[in-house]
Amino acid sequence: MGGLNRKMVEDPRKKPLFVLAIVLLHSSAYAGHETYVPEQPCSDFHTASLLRGLTLNVRFLLFTSSNPSCGQLISVGDDIKNSTFNTSLETKIIIHGFRTLGTKPSWINGLIDALLQAAKVNVVAVDWIRGATGDYRRVVENVMKLGLEIFHFINHLLALGVSETSIHLIGVSLGAHVGGLVGQFYEGRLGRITGLDPVGPKYTKASHEERLDPGDALFVEAIHTDTDSFGIRVPVGHIDYFINGGKDQPGCPWLPLSYNDLICDHMRAVHLYVSALKNSCPMMAFPCSNHEDFLAGHCLDCFNPFLRSCPRIGLLHHGGVGVEKLPREVKVYLVTDSSAPYCMYHSLVEFHLQQNRSLVTNVQITFRSSNATATVKIAIPKQQQLGKGILAHPFPLCQIKEVMLTYVPKRYILKKEETLITGNFCTTPLPVSNRENMFCLSKLSLTRNKPFAHNLTVTCA
Ligand SMILES: *[C@@H]1O[C@H](CO)[C@@H](O)[C@H](O)[C@H]1NC(C)=O
Ligand SMILES: *[C@@H]1O[C@H](CO)[C@@H](O)[C@H](O)[C@H]1NC(C)=O
Ligand SMILES: *[C@@H]1O[C@H](CO)[C@@H](O)[C@H](O)[C@H]1NC(C)=O
Ligand SMILES: *[C@@H]1O[C@H](CO)[C@@H](O)[C@H](O)[C@H]1NC(C)=O
Ligand SMILES: *[C@@H]1O[C@H](CO)[C@@H](O)[C@H](O)[C@H]1NC(C)=O
Repeated sequence: MGGLNRKMVEDPRKKPLFVLAIVLLHSSAYAGHETYVPEQPCSDFHTASLLRGLTLNVRFLLFTSSNPSCGQLISVGDDIKNSTFNTSLETKIIIHGFRTLGTKPSWINGLIDALLQAAKVNVVAVDWIRGATGDYRRVVENVMKLGLEIFHFINHLLALGVSETSIHLIGVSLGAHVGGLVGQFYEGRLGRITGLDPVGPKYTKASHEERLDPGDALFVEAIHTDTDSFGIRVPVGHIDYFINGGKDQPGCPWLPLSYNDLICDHMRAVHLYVSALKNSCPMMAFPCSNHEDFLAGHCLDCFNPFLRSCPRIGLLHHGGVGVEKLPREVKVYLVTDSSAPYCMYHSLVEFHLQQNRSLVTNVQITFRSSNATATVKIAIPKQQQLGKGILAHPFPLCQIKEVMLTYVPKRYILKKEETLITGNFCTTPLPVSNRENMFCLSKLSLTRNKPFAHNLTVTCA
């Protein structure tokens, strides 16, 4: 019997899923686990073929820290009492979006695990894969019905003594607008809604009633990663993170060769969020009117409109901002890396020429630490002395060992262009609180195309 079990488990693809589920259940019982054993078997997501994808068939799967990998089906009232749901904890409700192929979202277990690791919470995953599969327009028509079912489900929770403010909806793509709809049924009294690249098609020009907006919860935030394709362009929350400008993400191919390539930018929002939950490094963002201004060094702190602290992706209350009345639709910007954990630190870099020049001066600035380099090129406009920009790097500035500066003239050499420039280099990490504490190297002479290296000694704050 044991031998047979092992053989079946070793090659699960050959067996129907339900056989595998039974085998796994039995083998864990034989192994004598003393942890919580649910009264019901564990449930997984439905999968839908394209032909069957016409009914909604919404299910609610509960995951708690007592058994993080076991989904407990709690679609009817009584199930909740028999489950490990804890009414005194916050509840995170995950709502997935459109499912092209009718499959379980590949990211969902990672998101559930990250949430359970990050906080003591109940996690409920809404499985509406059947209704989410098929023609996109028909799927959008299911949104109202789905929203109502989630509304009834939350009403069950409230009847058990759960508070409205302890409910946090996390909606991915189309799921973000479903979250907005549910929040609207509660007239904005739910605690929080997080939209992970809220979908754009059919929603960009929609009214506030139809799409996610800041009125849908006490705190609404959105992470935008694909605003030029599947994602929505307009801000929809109190705080809207436009990652790398929001359109295209580093590491995603320009020329999509597979379905995963095609949704790479769109799905990046989910992966960033999971990474932020794991708290590997801070994903801090800065309010600015657009990404170009941010990269040009025009937005260096969060004073306006957040007064004190800068927003961070993750579970901090109100994203970590401490203002009493939250402003709405604040666009915030940050640069990320091309792979997990994605986060970068941002520093202001400046080069101050000793003398005005009659042409644009380009200076390339590279930070080097033992394992990584990061580079940015700044331009000093003609007849001006100051050029600046933002350099994003994977480690804090205090861990950067060396800076390299190169004066790079235009490719064609003008007669007038000297071979030497003189000036000061300065840098400081964002948010910039005190310019007097900048690290500076004075009276540097840079020879054309010849890198100049210097130790960088910024102490950690
Ligand atoms: C919940 O548990 C009670 C007692 O343990 C049992 O009588 C009841 O049938 C259970 N309900 C469900 C829906 O499993
Ligand atoms: C529910 O959570 C609270 C707060 O963490 C804890 O004190 C309590 O023991 C939990 N209840 C159960 C039944 O696990
Ligand atoms: C170099 O990389 C390793 C992991 O690959 C990391 O633990 C370490 O902190 C890095 N060193 C520096 C100076 O950042
Ligand atoms: C450089 O040009 C600016 C105007 O663009 C002028 O205000 C400034 O005085 C000039 N500085 C020098 C050193 O010539
Ligand atoms: C730069 O730092 C290294 C050690 O990290 C040291 O050996 C070297 O002398 C320093 N160079 C200068 C110019 O200070």
